[in-house]
Amino acid sequence: MIKVKTGIQGLDKALNGGFPEGNLVLLSGGAGTGKSTISMQYLVNGAKLFGERGLFISTEQSEEELQKAASQYGWNLTDLENRNLLRVVYYKVLSEDHFLQRIEEVVKEFKPKRIVVDSVTTLTDSMMMSELQKDQAFSMVKIADNVSPVPRTEQIMTKIILYNLLGRFKEFDATIMLTSELYEDSKKLSADGVSEFVADGVITLEYISVGQNVFRTMRIRKMRYTDHERASLNYELSPQGVNVSGQELGI
Ligand SMILES: Nc1ncnc2c1ncn2[C@@H]1O[C@H](COP(=O)(O)OP(=O)(O)OP(=O)(O)O)[C@@H](O)[C@H]1O
Ligand SMILES: [Mg+2]
Repeated sequence: MIKVKTGIQGLDKALNGGFPEGNLVLLSGGAGTGKSTISMQYLVNGAKLFGERGLFISTEQSEEELQKAASQYGWNLTDLENRNLLRVVYYKVLSEDHFLQRIEEVVKEFKPKRIVVDSVTTLTDSMMMSELQKDQAFSMVKIADNVSPVPRTEQIMTKIILYNLLGRFKEFDATIMLTSELYEDSKKLSADGVSEFVADGVITLEYISVGQNVFRTMRIRKMRYTDHERASLNYELSPQGVNVSGQELGI
């Protein structure tokens, strides 16, 4: 089994060396938990430490915003892009067909070993919107369904869109990280409640209060094709990026 190192030491240790090559890994967490930082660090480390090309697909922050965030951690994205080790693609809300086609073109041409999609939540939300607009009949059903708290038709549509989307991603010859938003107190492992079943791996990020203190904790909830640490790991956002201490909280 070839392992793809994140270059984040504590995380690689917890993963017994890294992500199994080709895995599709979901990184889920609430606002500000560090999803964009960790996923960018995965690509920056891949480029700097292993000379592997990384593609960052952003649906939320523009390239300028990502560069601004990265420069805080001392990462020069422009330099990596000039060396053809990194490519950042920013897509605003787009329809599914256009999005996938454009991604597939970039992947075919750039041949990245590592891919990040930040975030898959925005992507599926926008696909859902375009489906709703396209399909009048579905809109009618949806209106009828609106009497129930969670429209079942919408759940089914989201499932179909996600299975299709993640299935296409899995065909890429790359190890992929997808970020997903998690709402406070949610029992699910992703915003949509479906991705965690399709993904090969799931890592959740959260804030935990212990008395007066607040900790950031990370947990590998699932990682197909490898054994891994199951306990919560402490992590912090430092001027060098994310540090995973590997220390259990013991709670
Ligand atoms: N230089 C820094 N040193 C330490 N912590 C920082 C630094 N810069 C940002 N942070 C922390 O990182 C957080 C943002 O991280 P990031 O953007 O990766 O999170 P995110 O989960 O992607 O957020 P969002 O939900 O907005 O997409 C900030 O809320 C802040 O707490
Ligand atoms: Mg983010």
